[in-house]
Amino acid sequence: MLRGACRMLVLPAVLIAGTAAAAGPGPDQRALLEHYRRLAGVESFSPERGRTFFLAKHQGGKPETPSCTTCHTDDPRGPGRTRAGKPIEPMALSVNPRRYTDPKKVEKWFRRNCRSVLGRECTPREKGDFLAFMFSQ
Ligand code: HEC
Repeated sequence: MLRGACRMLVLPAVLIAGTAAAAGPGPDQRALLEHYRRLAGVESFSPERGRTFFLAKHQGGKPETPSCTTCHTDDPRGPGRTRAGKPIEPMALSVNPRRYTDPKKVEKWFRRNCRSVLGRECTPREKGDFLAFMFSQ
């Protein structure tokens, strides 16, 4: 009797969690984060560190692109702009849920953008922190 009552309570809780999850990362995005977590060998990623990395002025890359914000702006929820002036869709998952669903695309742009900004590839930890930040936005 008591067990039955518990089950009745659990079901709505799951449904509510399911609804809330729609605003957070989906299965593909979570799998991607897990992929980087294994590569980085860490317990979890830090959205705060991701924010700092995203906003920072880096050295070692091209002088005209010192920061991720050069193109993506310092507001991940707003649109960005390439150096040539072409619009870039927002990076924040909450406004652009289709982002970070294609691992090949993500890797391609990490490689390209990290080389421009840092003069090297981003580490798995930098990638994971960046994604954790964008998933929180
Ligand atoms: C020179 C301009 C420029 C800079 C600087 C830049 N990006 Fe980008 N980024 C782009 C463009 C253009 C795209 C591809 C278009 C799109 O996805 O809307 C992109 C896409 C991405 C994607 C792919 C997202 C997806 O939907 O799969 C990631 C990840 C990314 N950038 C991360 C970064 C990080 C991290 C930095 C800083 C280290 C950075 N970018 C700096 C222009 C830039």
